[in-house]
Amino acid sequence: MPPGRTRGPRRRKQTRTVPFLAGLGTGVALIFVCVLAYLLLGRPPVAATDRPALWEPLLTTLPLRQRVHAEAKAPPFAASEEGFEHGARLYHVHCAQCHGVPGQVSALGLQMAPRAQQFFSTRNRHATAEPAGEIFWKTAYGIRHSGMPAYNHVLGNTELWQVSLLLHAANTSLPDPVSAILLQGSAPPQPTLVVP
Ligand code: HEC
Repeated sequence: MPPGRTRGPRRRKQTRTVPFLAGLGTGVALIFVCVLAYLLLGRPPVAATDRPALWEPLLTTLPLRQRVHAEAKAPPFAASEEGFEHGARLYHVHCAQCHGVPGQVSALGLQMAPRAQQFFSTRNRHATAEPAGEIFWKTAYGIRHSGMPAYNHVLGNTELWQVSLLLHAANTSLPDPVSAILLQGSAPPQPTLVVP
């Protein structure tokens, strides 16, 4: 085959590829510079009191929802009054300072960004509408870029399920002894880390 017949289209292809790659490189560099300029000069939200940016839920909530949904397990035992009582004791010690108790929201939790959901508030039905397995996941592994700690080294599996089943039922009418435990006494202490 004469050399000119094959070299012509190949050379034309090359001459199209080089400007395309150069354009792509310039585009990527431009996006990088714009993102950097926004981060350094655009005053993105960094203080807990700043208004949340539109992209924040996109980067945090969407992937979290996807992961939790995929990895949530079914509870290994059913909800019971005894389990609720244990869960309420744990909740009072480990969670109430941020998530509040029936009839009393947590001032601390509401100053966080994102805010700590007030599980027993009649206004907040989102978390309690979640399957107990999803509440378990979030409690065990925590939520990145928020004040929600991971409790898988603080509480055992049974305890994590007890507190998750309680929160799943937080907007139902709980037995009186359970409500009494939730409402008891003074400000709860901070959790202590234990070896798993
Ligand atoms: C230091 C404060 C703090 C403590 C203590 C805390 N949390 Fe949280 N928690 C948060 C914050 C802040 C969020 C909000 C995270 C978000 O919306 O991304 C959160 C979110 C959650 C969620 C997800 C709610 C939803 O609607 O998706 C669950 C479930 C949860 N916490 C359970 C618990 C349990 C159970 C405990 C105790 C064992 C606990 N938390 C202790 C701050 C706390």
